[in-house]
Amino acid sequence: MLKGKKILLGVTAGIAAYKAANLVRLLSKKGAEVKVIMTPDAQIFVSPHTLSVLSKNKVETDFFTTEKEWNNHVHIALWADVFVIAPCTANTLAKMATGLCDNLLLAAYLSARCKVYVAPAMDMDMYHHPTSQSNIQKITSFGNIIIPPENGELASGLYGEGRMAEPENIVLFLEKEFETHGSFKGKKVLITAGPTYEEIDPVRFIGNRSTGKMGIALANAFAHEGADVTLILGPTHLSPDNSVTCIRVESSNEMYAHCTELFKNTDIAIMSAAVADYKAAEYSHQKIKKKEIDLQIKLTKTVDILAELGKQKKQQCLIGFALETENVVEYAKQKIKAKNLDFIVANSLQDAGAGFAGNTNKISIIDNKGKVFEYGLKSKEDVAKDILTFTLNFIKK
Ligand SMILES: Cc1cc2nc3c(=O)[nH]c(=O)nc-3n(C[C@H](O)[C@H](O)[C@H](O)COP(=O)(O)O)c2cc1C
Repeated sequence: MLKGKKILLGVTAGIAAYKAANLVRLLSKKGAEVKVIMTPDAQIFVSPHTLSVLSKNKVETDFFTTEKEWNNHVHIALWADVFVIAPCTANTLAKMATGLCDNLLLAAYLSARCKVYVAPAMDMDMYHHPTSQSNIQKITSFGNIIIPPENGELASGLYGEGRMAEPENIVLFLEKEFETHGSFKGKKVLITAGPTYEEIDPVRFIGNRSTGKMGIALANAFAHEGADVTLILGPTHLSPDNSVTCIRVESSNEMYAHCTELFKNTDIAIMSAAVADYKAAEYSHQKIKKKEIDLQIKLTKTVDILAELGKQKKQQCLIGFALETENVVEYAKQKIKAKNLDFIVANSLQDAGAGFAGNTNKISIIDNKGKVFEYGLKSKEDVAKDILTFTLNFIKK
């Protein structure tokens, strides 16, 4: 997977910088061409000479060479197929999140057009500090990919999460990324995510607890693999990566209108939005006044977007989501038939860590032959990758 790949390795001033030497060795062994760029402070922890010998390339550390020539950070960044920053300190992470550019590594980062992988490495309290966590979220929203740190003994002597992923695991992570790399190039993918809000009067609506996290992770994953992704996103404060075309909507009707418009020219449609099943039969243009007696609001069914797309389906691969509280697989099987789906991703609110709002999910995929594929509890990003890989194998058949 990594043979012939041009890998720019950024090394920052964490104690794990010594592991960069092994990482260079392993990447080179896999046939990658490695160039190393270091922050000035990183040189305290590992010698540029060591990394230069192992990578068989000059190691860059400053904006200017000793001969006072400019080390062109733009050329360095554009050379790379992949930029891996390992280890990445809390300091560099914060600078990446805010756009600071006071060293060659950060200037190269801001100039890079390739995917950037970041392996945080720090003591567990530094890692769990709200600023580090929010910086990780921020750089992830820019499209950077985090190689999660591991648990274990830390340089401080404490035990916990924060130590840089082992070089072998970083190599495995990159190989897995390249396995599906660009595999959806030329494919048009339509994804819905988030809740819908069905208005009752100017101040009230029917909604649900969906945040759109799962659908956004899916949109990012497909865009990352080269797909042309349009995300129809219900009301949420979250956003997808810039590479995703995002259309924000409020109601099921708006979502439906965009879906039917785009579906004709779609290759793969994934309907992960939690669309409200009912809306007020009549919208009140004035705020409904509180009365002494109980209020009854007549509800009417919203349009079933998935079923409607199922009717319009020709060459498209149509994927549904099912969130149930009981008999998850049974309901999912019925839904596949009733709505003409290719497969369905089912999650149960009964599984701890699965469902709305959280960062994790636990899914089963049920295909149109009734075969059930079970997955463990994972981050929503990893679940998105599983769904992507399943889709790839499904459309290849
Ligand atoms: C012995 C020692 C070990 C350190 N280890 C880490 C570390 O593992 N992670 C981290 O984020 N900062 C660590 N630091 C702090 C960074 O070296 C410091 O924030 C530095 O300014 C980071 O520079 P850079 O991000 O430009 O490379 C360590 C400092 C010392 C003195």
